[in-house]
Amino acid sequence: MDKCNFRCPYCMPEDSFNDSYRFLKQGERLSFGEINRLVRIFSRLGVKKVRLTGGEPLLRKGLPNLINGLSNIEGIEDIALTTNGALLGDQAAALKQAGLHRVTVSLDSVDPKIFLRMTGGKGALNDVLDGINKAQEAGLKPIKINTVVQRGVNDSAIIELLKRFRHSGIIVRLIEYMDVGTLNKWAFSKTIASTDLERQINAIWPLKSVASNSAEEVSSRHIYQDGGGEIGFISSISKPFCGDCSRARISSDGKLYTCLFSNSGFDLKKLLRSGSSDLEIEHTIRSRWSKRGDRYSEERAENKNTELSNNRIEMFHIGG
Ligand code: 5AD
Ligand code: SF4
Repeated sequence: MDKCNFRCPYCMPEDSFNDSYRFLKQGERLSFGEINRLVRIFSRLGVKKVRLTGGEPLLRKGLPNLINGLSNIEGIEDIALTTNGALLGDQAAALKQAGLHRVTVSLDSVDPKIFLRMTGGKGALNDVLDGINKAQEAGLKPIKINTVVQRGVNDSAIIELLKRFRHSGIIVRLIEYMDVGTLNKWAFSKTIASTDLERQINAIWPLKSVASNSAEEVSSRHIYQDGGGEIGFISSISKPFCGDCSRARISSDGKLYTCLFSNSGFDLKKLLRSGSSDLEIEHTIRSRWSKRGDRYSEERAENKNTELSNNRIEMFHIGG
């Protein structure tokens, strides 16, 4: 879903996304039938995990129907959802029942003032916290929280956020603020390196690193030594992991992106709507994927990709 009910300044700043912005029309978005068909094709190519993201996926009417369809596709073992949590309280039980396995909630601060600022004045913190509780009650697990850390914006309230979720079974993942999209006036100086945060946290609650769950896991996992649970660090700026990334992203309008920082996507919707067979689409995807050479973040670290910097897909089209 390309739309969102929040206006986080780093993703959908209000001055660009107001009444005059043209979001997709209903018919321009992939239908549930088309998404199901694509996931079936991807599953034949070996995909086992699906994540629904946005924008805000819970704005899409009848989302449990989509999940129900996806959960019946052979080979799909894991269905996850990334949401801002505002509408999760009402929908958590139905989502679980439809076959959703887990949720990740984007939450940058539990300080009400900072939260309000970071959602562009649109978010109600209590709704998000209630959504997280309801998701937990519904048995969606593990619940993860994505927290993007921005210097001078929410860095002073990270400890408070961690404290709130210690001993809850919920995994907070601290994400280095990245240069995705073109609208957020990203600057390297706004990013805080994970190692700095880790040092700060370690001084309060000693941490121990633990092995990752799988090769493609993007987060480096740690546990509190006192049994407070797990936290993670996603260090795409200071420690790029392009080499381990195997994610294919599909935007609401049916374009395939092979990297979060791509400047263009391949139009799968056109194939879906022009009578191509499943096998033809499968071959096309396979061939696009095999030509994939994206390693934007590694190139950033090597300081080589300045020419890409003005023309990147926005985060709300392809999620995290
Ligand atoms: N840097 C890091 N993370 C970001 N997200 C959105 N924009 C950025 C950015 N510039 C996160 C959101 C959400 C996930 C989809 O990506 O907070 O959790
Ligand atoms: Fe919406 Fe998430 Fe973007 Fe915020 S970061 S505007 S909640 S899609």
